[in-house]
Amino acid sequence: MKTALITGISGQDGSYLSELLLSKGYEVHGIVRRHSVAESQASRIEHLDVTTHYGDLLDPGSIERVFCDVMPDEFYNLAAMSHVRVSFDVPEFTMKTNGLAVFHLLEMVRNYRPLCKFYQASSSEMFGNSIDVDGYQRESTPMHPVSPYGIAKLHAYNLVRHYRKAYGLFAANGILFNHESPRRGSNFVTQKIIKTAVQIKHGLADELVLGNIDSQRDWGHSKDYVRAMHAILNHNKSGDFVVATGRTQSIRDLCSIVFGYLNMDASEYVKHDPKYTRPEELDILRGDASKAHKTLGWEPEYSFLEMVDEMIKHWEKKLK
Ligand code: GDD
Repeated sequence: MKTALITGISGQDGSYLSELLLSKGYEVHGIVRRHSVAESQASRIEHLDVTTHYGDLLDPGSIERVFCDVMPDEFYNLAAMSHVRVSFDVPEFTMKTNGLAVFHLLEMVRNYRPLCKFYQASSSEMFGNSIDVDGYQRESTPMHPVSPYGIAKLHAYNLVRHYRKAYGLFAANGILFNHESPRRGSNFVTQKIIKTAVQIKHGLADELVLGNIDSQRDWGHSKDYVRAMHAILNHNKSGDFVVATGRTQSIRDLCSIVFGYLNMDASEYVKHDPKYTRPEELDILRGDASKAHKTLGWEPEYSFLEMVDEMIKHWEKKLK
């Protein structure tokens, strides 16, 4: 039986990854941070047979203790300050959590269990506004991040590559484009739009207030993307892989689709507030996941509309 340790286990991806690993017979351990609202902390993983441990990426000793107790075969670092706009408000915290902490994790693997495979949750936000002439971002596309979040993630990405080359660790980066699901936090744009539209439909809200609706994103389903994480760590060679659908929609398009699905007209309800815009914006993401298709045999199963349908049904059920 293989043992996995997941930082960020209580998040969207941590919960789906745990389900996947349990279905494959893994013993699954996860690190959770202390949270003032105890009730909501483990809501995504309460139904799962996983062992959780308290720890914090900014307290390297706490992580080291758990790591040395568990001695995992696979270590997935999914914990992060994951909200790009908030990273402009707390840039130093973001740098420490998303960037510097990864250095401690890699040192720990190197010192205590060099055969443990290490997965880093890297992000398409690292590309910033850099895009190849054919309109896609891929592993070879230069990275010029436009947010403290992206800069910190790029720092961690480079650390992973360095530890792989310098010390021969099996350390891999999954460069994941946006991925959503009914478990997505409701301050990310897909969930915010869908939740508010359903609320409006049922008379529970009057308007949907957004920032920049002209930016475009390549949205996949988290359930598909955690399969890619596992495939990346179970390939015979460690590397860096783009995980994306290759299809792009604007936030404006998403609003039309969601309100249209609910028989409403988005233009009547969508309002603008600059507080949701960012000092610097990433305009368009469209990923080319050819390397993951060819090397790992990974393919997404959900279409964009199936994902939106699942998320709308989730909120319809919840609000009823
Ligand atoms: N969150 C949010 N709220 N975004 C808004 C809003 C709003 O009210 N209005 C417009 N947007 C725009 C943002 O400016 C951005 O262009 C786009 O919607 C998507 O925003 P998010 O859903 O917050 O995601 P993100 O692209 O910034 O970051 C996500 O994807 C990254 C991968 O590229 C996060 O999941 C990151 O953790 C992840 O690494």
